[in-house]
Amino acid sequence: MYRAPRGTTDILPPEQPYWRYVEQKAADICQLYGYERIDSPLFEDAGLFIRTVGAGTDIVEKEMYSFEDKGGNQVTLRPEGTAPVCRAYVEHGLHNQPQPVRLYYFADIFRYERPQAGRYRQHHQFGYEAIGDGDPVLDAEVIDMAWQLFVSLGLGRLTLNLNSIGCKECRPEYLKRLKEYYADHLSELCRDCKARLDRAPLRLLDCKNPDCQRLAQSAPKSIDYLCPPCAEHFNHLQQYLEALALPFIINHRLVRGLDYYTRTVFEIQPEEEGSQSTLGGGGRYDDLIEELGGKPTPAIGFAVGIERIILNLKRQAVSVPALRKPQVFIACMGGEAKAVAVKLAATLRRAGIGVIEAVGDRSLKAQLRQANNLGVRHTLIIGEDELKTGTVALRDMSSGEQKNVPLAQAPDLLR
Ligand code: HAM
Repeated sequence: MYRAPRGTTDILPPEQPYWRYVEQKAADICQLYGYERIDSPLFEDAGLFIRTVGAGTDIVEKEMYSFEDKGGNQVTLRPEGTAPVCRAYVEHGLHNQPQPVRLYYFADIFRYERPQAGRYRQHHQFGYEAIGDGDPVLDAEVIDMAWQLFVSLGLGRLTLNLNSIGCKECRPEYLKRLKEYYADHLSELCRDCKARLDRAPLRLLDCKNPDCQRLAQSAPKSIDYLCPPCAEHFNHLQQYLEALALPFIINHRLVRGLDYYTRTVFEIQPEEEGSQSTLGGGGRYDDLIEELGGKPTPAIGFAVGIERIILNLKRQAVSVPALRKPQVFIACMGGEAKAVAVKLAATLRRAGIGVIEAVGDRSLKAQLRQANNLGVRHTLIIGEDELKTGTVALRDMSSGEQKNVPLAQAPDLLR
């Protein structure tokens, strides 16, 4: 027996109302803030991610689904959505459009991770990117949009974590101080952190090991090392967030797991959970477009895992609207009645009335049971008597009341 590959899930019909609800709310928010949809390929050149997400990150080191295709090209199933959008921005000359260019996407994302609640090997992200301006007003817009998405979904008890990790001017000095600090505490670090201290010192700040967490609390803070332009950017952003009454907290240990970030980084977490359950995260990536061969172009974005949103909707008992289903079932008895039923079903559907038709040769009782299970409001029954009189029996499924009506009047009556 085949099963879905580990870390993947089938989204069966009873789950679909949650997905449609989230997609609709996300698309509504994008419309409200002026973001347009972009779809990029499911796979890209492996180099795109190695170069931007960073060779030393977990994603690139351990989690990418990469393979050589039949033409000998190294390709990777998309492990995140930002680099492909930036690649498209450069490839299609979107810098020629009014800036910033505001884009959003729904994307399947592939990461070879250890599966657990809310963590999959194939998950789905809703994300958006604002490319082409460095104004902290844009940071505030992107953060506000994320927050408003959660508000509109009906999710509460969330925390907004904010930090600034500086730019290529000021970060080297900070990293130097960070390494010095950790070098003095080398023996207290976990094995992973010892190994990554030299190449990825920022990662030590969000290590889950309790000893490393304790050390991180007294580690040097990036915001104390910002150059004047980065400090000014961060100050303005905080003023705007205060003006928007967004309840952010500055978290010195927030660094994000991808290498392309500059200045602003932020994450939204459910209050009762730890950092493993981050709902969504994002930040600025002012050097990424240039890294991909474009002109220097500041940008910022955000992405959220749809599975994690749904997990939290269920935990917080948010009810979502049911999807529309046909409200009419057609039952029939015998071959001749079947031909009439096929035609009646077609007439109703062409008139915009949804119909589910009985198939096979089950008894009338079994057909009515099926209609009941489907939850339709009406069943139309065609038997021998109806055939003789050119009528159809119209049954109200909740009251059980039934009356015969002329076949030709059925569409109008149902409407
Ligand atoms: P990320 O933090 O790696 O950021 O992923 C964004 C969100 O995707 C996470 O907060 C989480 O909700 C969800 N997610 C990540 N991995 C998994 C998984 N294995 N299973 C289920 N959900 C998961 C990015 O990918 C950046 N591209 C975000 C961004 C956009 N930054 C700027 N623009």
